[in-house]
Amino acid sequence: MKIARSRAELDALLSSYRAAGQRIGFVPTMGALHEGHLSLVRLARENADLVGVSIFVNPTQFAPHEDFDAYPRDEARDLAMLEAEGADFVFLPRADELYEGGFESAVKPGAAAQGLESDFRPHFFGGVVNVVYRLFEAVKPDAAIFGEKDFQQLQVIAEMVKAQGLPITIIGAPIARDDYGLALSSRNAYLSASELSIARMLNRVLFDTAAAIRGGQTEEEACAAAAERLLAEGFRSVDYVAVRWGRVLGAAWLGKTRLIDNVPIF
Ligand code: PAF
Repeated sequence: MKIARSRAELDALLSSYRAAGQRIGFVPTMGALHEGHLSLVRLARENADLVGVSIFVNPTQFAPHEDFDAYPRDEARDLAMLEAEGADFVFLPRADELYEGGFESAVKPGAAAQGLESDFRPHFFGGVVNVVYRLFEAVKPDAAIFGEKDFQQLQVIAEMVKAQGLPITIIGAPIARDDYGLALSSRNAYLSASELSIARMLNRVLFDTAAAIRGGQTEEEACAAAAERLLAEGFRSVDYVAVRWGRVLGAAWLGKTRLIDNVPIF
């Protein structure tokens, strides 16, 4: 597995593959890898000849009061996991090079960014499209894989790629869950044992909400009931439970940890 820490190193390691017309599959991450990320690497492998992963905790998608400094970082562990999974290369850009020239973004999020996450994290999708566009410019992948756990993010990125006319196929990967259905997330590392058992109710409530809608309950009623149930289960607050893209999406807080998840209705 090859490692690039600069654009020059990345170009040097990819040039022969590009010249040979090899398809590059790319998985952008913020590190703190878990089985969910590894499932993205496997999906990239199915869709490309060469698989690369970036690890970069992107400052522009965190608001000043959020967990940028506390975000879990363990480069050695991440690299060992990627090596074991058979990734071909890892791009570990430096912030000063990736954001050379400043944080101003060449791209803006489109309509998919409206509402849901943006109502609670207004800076978030601006930062995501900013960094993903820069990473795409550097790696020039043929396909890029994003987890469906961040379903709105997946829509925002697909929309940005289309709007920019980038020749990149965006592929959504099914949500990886633990034995209790909890969506795997790097932020689950923040949860105490008692919070973990409450966290495992989030997916259950969303699956029940989807079933209630299938059974004829209105979306408004079902989502309002879900938010009440999450509070009754022990969540500190609920940012939203809502229906969009044929899915029930939810975001809720447990202590200092914000969890998101979504499930299809049909
Ligand atoms: O989903 C994530 O881990 C991040 O938002 C991403 C897409 C790597 C951009 O920093």
